Amino acid sequence: MSFRGKNAVVTGGAGGIGLQVSKQLLTAGAAKVAIIDIQDNLEEFVKLRAAHPTQSVMIVKMDVANKKGVEATYEEIAKTFGSIDIVVNVAGIFNDKDVQRTLLVNLGGIINSTLSALPYMSKDNGGKGGIVINMSSVVGLDPMFIIPVYGPPRRASSTLLAANDSTTARSGIKYVTVLPLGPP
Ligand SMILES: NC(=O)c1ccc[n+]([C@@H]2O[C@H](COP(=O)([O-])OP(=O)(O)OC[C@H]3O[C@@H](n4cnc5c(N)ncnc54)[C@H](O)[C@@H]3O)[C@@H](O)[C@H]2O)c1
Repeated sequence: MSFRGKNAVVTGGAGGIGLQVSKQLLTAGAAKVAIIDIQDNLEEFVKLRAAHPTQSVMIVKMDVANKKGVEATYEEIAKTFGSIDIVVNVAGIFNDKDVQRTLLVNLGGIINSTLSALPYMSKDNGGKGGIVINMSSVVGLDPMFIIPVYGPPRRASSTLLAANDSTTARSGIKYVTVLPLGPP
């Protein structure tokens, strides 16, 4: 798939993998990239805009666990961009001591973001289709007993993929799950 001229949304794009994904999308020629993140990373955002002066970089400070907030964010992005072609769900936390928050962010966040994007992407609703990429982890496939809370939501990304994938024929949206191998 070519990213040239495409409009993308990246959750968790203020740091780590999400920031690198945002940079790569812009380098590959994406026209407009919206970053949804709970934190500011003004220094990096300024650099990103300076490096890609002819492309749009929109920053929205939002918690992906906030369903209504994420819905409003996508509405705003769709209004500003005109269309959305790519969603990369990267936002995540690694804190097994906070069970509820891990579930709300690492699973709820992916669901909130994907469901909020569909009305603007799905061919069913007059969209152009596109691609949704969910960041999972190798522990989603190969569970580690020392992180019993972090693993299941990562595993669920694959289940979501299978469920959503069955709708591709009518929505025109492909689903991809990425399982990085790292600390974790
Ligand atoms: N780094 C790795 O080696 C690795 C390995 C396997 C899987 N992963 C997965 O990749 C994802 C990103 O990992 P990373 O290393 O880049 O993490 P990171 O902590 O460096 O970056 C995560 C980003 O998500 C944002 N974020 C956190 N909670 C949020 C929320 N509620 N709403 C919006 N934004 C939020 C953070 O502010 C940050 O910018 C995680 O979901 C993780 O499960 C990472």
